[in-house]
Amino acid sequence: MDPYKELMNVYDEVSTIGDISSLLGWDQNTYMPRKAAAGRGTQSAFLSKLAHRKITVPRVGSLLERLEAEPLDEVKSAVVREVRKIYTRKTSIPEELEAEIARSEPLSMQAWVDAKQKKDFSIFAPHLERVLELKKQVAEKVGYPEIPYDALLEEYEPYTRTAQVKEVFERLRKRLVPIIERISETQKDEVHIKGEFKPEVQENFYKRILRDMGYDFEAGRLDTTEHPFTIGTGDDTRITTHYYADDPRPALFSCIHEGGHALYEQGFLKENMHTPLGEACSLGIHESQSRMWENLIGRSLSFWKHYYPEIHRIFPALSNIPLERFYRAVNTVRPSLIRVEADEVTYNMHILIRFELEIEIFNGKLGVSEIPGAWNDKYEKYLGIVPENDGVGCLQDIHWSIGAFGYFPTYTLGNLYASQFFDAMKREIDVEGLLENGQLLPVLSWLRKNVHERGKLYPASELVRVVTGRELDESHFIDHVKRKYGNLYGISL
Ligand code: CO
Repeated sequence: MDPYKELMNVYDEVSTIGDISSLLGWDQNTYMPRKAAAGRGTQSAFLSKLAHRKITVPRVGSLLERLEAEPLDEVKSAVVREVRKIYTRKTSIPEELEAEIARSEPLSMQAWVDAKQKKDFSIFAPHLERVLELKKQVAEKVGYPEIPYDALLEEYEPYTRTAQVKEVFERLRKRLVPIIERISETQKDEVHIKGEFKPEVQENFYKRILRDMGYDFEAGRLDTTEHPFTIGTGDDTRITTHYYADDPRPALFSCIHEGGHALYEQGFLKENMHTPLGEACSLGIHESQSRMWENLIGRSLSFWKHYYPEIHRIFPALSNIPLERFYRAVNTVRPSLIRVEADEVTYNMHILIRFELEIEIFNGKLGVSEIPGAWNDKYEKYLGIVPENDGVGCLQDIHWSIGAFGYFPTYTLGNLYASQFFDAMKREIDVEGLLENGQLLPVLSWLRKNVHERGKLYPASELVRVVTGRELDESHFIDHVKRKYGNLYGISL
């Protein structure tokens, strides 16, 4: 058989296993009966072992070698490059190490839940030590160009080195901190939204917006969970949200956010499904899609000029809030302790703090017992606030408990990519005019053509260059913030 075809057959099986795992994951997070948890654990572990075995057989290695010696077109060489990447990574991590990680993670996650609830870091500390030790072993096994953290970042933001991210983030921090200070000084009165917002009325309205965005409900669905997420790909891409009956904002913006992720997954080319070109370029690029829809579109005045009359009509609680005040209410900037509740300006500081700490931890400069102190110092220095306990401090996020080191930076990379893509889009289409008329589909078409349909054709940095004509540059985000919040607060930033 043709070696490329044979390789694609293997990949197709591995992708199919991935699809099944996603579906099990969706069920686990939505409607699964409590007692089914143990059985589900066994099923998921079985599938991941199966997928691991299929992609690490020596035959895959010899197919890759043959293909790498041949002249290939752009698409095939991207596919071979990506399969090689997975093959190398998976074969370099010994099975016992994988198994040890799989065994320790549920325990560590449980300890984190417990520690967060009791606001007591010492309950989590020994587990975090263990997770770190295992992740350091992974880094040593897979190798890295400069520092061990590179190997972890690689898992979420491939082809990106820590030093590159550090450079961009440091420039971002230097420009962002004074902006946040200036906004905090000139804080205007906060617009409060209170009253009754029936979840079923919210749901109908948000589904309308999702349809307008181009989300295909025949290839997906919207359910309710504690934490919103997107799962699946192609013709089965599902999203979830969480409704609060006294405030429409959390569900509204999480629907638009997850909708942005889902449009990416629904937007790969049919003929590329079950190949690397039918997969997201990186987590940062994935997040750029959700952030663009949520913040640059969903929190813009143009967007609300179209949608406000309707939301105003269906919720009597908004009857005495004019558009301008509602716009303010969905764009309040205030330094706060909890990352997931942060506004679009201060959000990035939460990420920069975690990124700086993660690097210090992996360079051996910061011991586990020193994390809470270092965390609080950075919050005071960058945001001017100090957590009153570790529950709302270094224990707030799940990521470290499941060994997801190197994940956080992708959130801010997503914000930066989003602003840069958005500026490129605005050079080609009249985005504001379209939004004011509720025309969201031309925005989606632009994203489809420039980002979605390319899948993993290029590494993220190259995709940014191809789409925008420039290297990743924080100026696009900074300019957006200065423009928008300068106007909103009537100050020059
Ligand atoms: Co997201």
